[in-house]
Amino acid sequence: METEKGAKTFYLTTPIYYPSDNLHIGHAYTTVAADAIARFKRLQGCDVFFLTGTDEHGQKIERKAREQGKEPAEFIEPIVEGIKDLWRLLRISYDDFIRTTEQRHKEIVQRIFARLYDQGDIYKSKYEGWYCTPCETYWTDSKLEGKKCPDCGREVEWVKEEAYFLRLSKYADRMLKYIEDNPGFIQPESRRNEMVSFIKSGLEDLCVSRTTLDWGIPVPFDPGHVIYVWFDAVSNYITALGYPDKDRFLRYWPADLHLVGKEIVRFHTIIWPIMLMALGVPLPKRVFGHGWMVLESGKMSKSKGNVIDPRVLVDKYGLDAVRYFLLREIPFGADGFYSEEALINRINVDLANDLGNLLSRTTAMIEKYTCSQVPEPGPEGPEDAVLKETARKAIAGLERSMERLQLSNALASIFQLVNQSNRYIEETSPWDLHKEGQSERLATVLYNLVESLRITAVALTPFLMETPGKIWQQLGLKGDVRQQTWQDLEWGGTQAGIKICRGEPIFPRILNQEQKTGQKGKAQKVGKPRPEEAGNTITIDRFQEVDMRLVKILEAEPVQGTDRLLKLRVDLGEETRQVVAGIAQHYSPEELIGKMVVLVANLQPVRIRGVESQGMILAATKGAALSLLTVDRDLERGARIK
Ligand code: MSP
Repeated sequence: METEKGAKTFYLTTPIYYPSDNLHIGHAYTTVAADAIARFKRLQGCDVFFLTGTDEHGQKIERKAREQGKEPAEFIEPIVEGIKDLWRLLRISYDDFIRTTEQRHKEIVQRIFARLYDQGDIYKSKYEGWYCTPCETYWTDSKLEGKKCPDCGREVEWVKEEAYFLRLSKYADRMLKYIEDNPGFIQPESRRNEMVSFIKSGLEDLCVSRTTLDWGIPVPFDPGHVIYVWFDAVSNYITALGYPDKDRFLRYWPADLHLVGKEIVRFHTIIWPIMLMALGVPLPKRVFGHGWMVLESGKMSKSKGNVIDPRVLVDKYGLDAVRYFLLREIPFGADGFYSEEALINRINVDLANDLGNLLSRTTAMIEKYTCSQVPEPGPEGPEDAVLKETARKAIAGLERSMERLQLSNALASIFQLVNQSNRYIEETSPWDLHKEGQSERLATVLYNLVESLRITAVALTPFLMETPGKIWQQLGLKGDVRQQTWQDLEWGGTQAGIKICRGEPIFPRILNQEQKTGQKGKAQKVGKPRPEEAGNTITIDRFQEVDMRLVKILEAEPVQGTDRLLKLRVDLGEETRQVVAGIAQHYSPEELIGKMVVLVANLQPVRIRGVESQGMILAATKGAALSLLTVDRDLERGARIK
């Protein structure tokens, strides 16, 4: 929809969270993703409405409250406050926060229920069947797996009561046709296929009321019944807008995007749309079911005691590192692993090494070579054209990936510009230009680096909260980076003559204590700006930080599901290590066994495709060719490379 101002509207929602416990990193994952999308759409100039909230009714909450001897209303209050605090900490830019216990919500849900009853889409009958309380879901025998809930695997309980039913069966064919006619409605495609099979396997009418609990919205014309919590919950997407006639509803509905976890796609793509069809309300344009962030030990749960608290991570590593990790680590839509090592690795490699170094090298060179002033660029050379073209492609890639909600690829696109800028420094050797007195060429190179960083800072604003401002400030750019618009992503916006203001590294590297002292423990921040980085040299001390060893390959096998990776077991003499190497297209496992190669032995361990890699094997590459580094005489395993 176009508003009077001509801006396109964009309405997006997160699921509303159960305030049954403090939220963990998995919940933060959904909401940070939604926030990045909302901010990106605003950067594109859309009139965005971003909704989140809490799903406060139902048996699960009632039971938890009673276990603590509390009334549900009293029990949830501090948890809801905690959720709002967490969103403040993570800088979630929602426009409204709906609580299902609010009067504005309850009234409209009752009206919806009554209207569907009046028109015959809800009817009264008897329910006898299974119920999963943690998921607040009814199940028929045929869908159960053993006596367990097919979604969460927990025990279900037998429920027998008089109840109201929503006629899903009446709408099943229309729903199926809608899904088939609108391929973009359910994404990713795998989830759409699951939903199509679900409907085809038979859609039974859904029980939409309970009599065995009080903690819910009463059925308006039959107060002994409360409305089923999922009927109540999904309605939030329109009650918050003031359905049926408030301005907000008329302006923003239908939603452009419901972002949900994969286990609740069914409620959002079958039950919710059927409720809307019955009400004669247009359906949401897109429902995207993202995957889960899990631990190596499986799903996070309070009972397993393995819940990761995002507040602790922000405190330890900073907000932007956590946001970056959540958005970058796992392809959105797929399941993926959380590990602290992976988080540290992202900080060290992408943020400290690639982005942080680019900024410190650039500002150090400008300080040293042009008295802190960003120079006027001269004529364009071939390397400059490549850099400009990379910037253009990075922004085009960012836009394309965000359109498809490939958030990780979107960040990777921005980092293509960062990486090309680092290569540009190597290729143009500003320190040589300075030595040789080529000041016009040097001016162009330095200007272009500032320009690349300026574009990077603007492009990062939807994803990172503190970093873009820090880059902006160090470059001495005018105004507020958060006030920049889509047009500011074009090349050439930096005014020559501005004064840079070199500062602390934006992301100090994190060294794991375990690596430093051999004992398990906290990661600590280390590293100060290195003066020698003004040029292209490093000190011998710095080189010696890298522990390279001669190792023998004992075993090699392909990593399942990839055609690029091999899993190797290598022998350092005193120990063996597992290493994942991207060399499958160059070496067969057989020819590797027995080879002596070079291992970087003190790299942070990382997980690659779920397989732990405890180091890196060195190889020389040029174009498509690759050759492993080896030694030209017999030497003991474990020998140090220096
Ligand atoms: N209250 C319902 C949603 C109602 S929407 C009308 C609910 N709440 S929830 O608190 O259990 O989950 C909210 C969201 O958090 C879901 O989308 C769920 O997928 C997401 N996540 C919870 N744990 C998660 C991970 N470990 N990883 C990724 N997302 C996860 O369901």
